[in-house]
Amino acid sequence: MEDLDPALLELARSARTVTVLTGAGMSAESGVPTFRDPGTGLWARWSPEQLATPGAWEADPELVWSWYLWRARQLRGLRPNAGHLALARWADRARVQVVTQNVDDLHERAGSEVLAHLHGSLFAFRCSACGTPFPDQLVPGLGLDLPADPEEPARERPPACPACGGPVRPSVVWFGELLPEGAMERGAEAVADADLVLVVGTSGLVQPAASLPLIAAGRGVPVVEVNPEDTALTPHADWAVRARSAEALPRLLPGARPAGADS
Ligand code: APR
Repeated sequence: MEDLDPALLELARSARTVTVLTGAGMSAESGVPTFRDPGTGLWARWSPEQLATPGAWEADPELVWSWYLWRARQLRGLRPNAGHLALARWADRARVQVVTQNVDDLHERAGSEVLAHLHGSLFAFRCSACGTPFPDQLVPGLGLDLPADPEEPARERPPACPACGGPVRPSVVWFGELLPEGAMERGAEAVADADLVLVVGTSGLVQPAASLPLIAAGRGVPVVEVNPEDTALTPHADWAVRARSAEALPRLLPGARPAGADS
């Protein structure tokens, strides 16, 4: 990775409020496949777009439930990466507002507070019929006791809602569904009142999340994209750091040692 622009480093050092919009690329180096990477094993037969939909749930709740349970179990075995940890440390020096499209809990496990999970969470559940929240500790097999089979997870039946008997679903936002109440408002406020906005590991293809960096740009807030590739958001970024997040974020963190310094 090439050295970061000194002007960008100065901006990162002096920013008092940093808002970070993260996508699947943020968790890639923890071993969580991004959304648009080809799947592996059983899941290679479906794209997430085919499974993360109300129609898929109606057609086969067990298949969709099994996929989410498998993903949640996989995460139990993974760890936050250096990028997550750098953002958590940054909060010691500035106000850091994390707004994520990710449904994993890696930001929290790194020590960050997450202002909004725009697409919900793998570890929150509710009844698909009456909406009653379902405690995650009652989800069979979510504990560490059942390591996820990386290739062929078992097909499992969703638990029944204690209030109405309906099948319990993950509280993840499926395509065509509304975002959690207030999530976008918190995200929009967080980009509007920031001195610096980082857009990390997202292709910027899914609305309305992808509109948040444009609000910042429209308000003249500096936008920095951290992604190995160009994306739909690149034209709206003031800086494009073409690097992996676990590599770039520790270098962007104020007070970070320059590359090559004895570690
Ligand atoms: N560091 C930074 N960025 C990375 C890394 C990495 N190590 N590895 C991959 N990326 C980038 C890819 O270049 C890509 O631009 O992460 C991005 C991942 O894009 P997607 O897979 O489209 O994920 P995301 O943008 O989060 O998807 C948005 O789409 O399917 C829905 O709800 C789902 O939240 C998801 C939303």
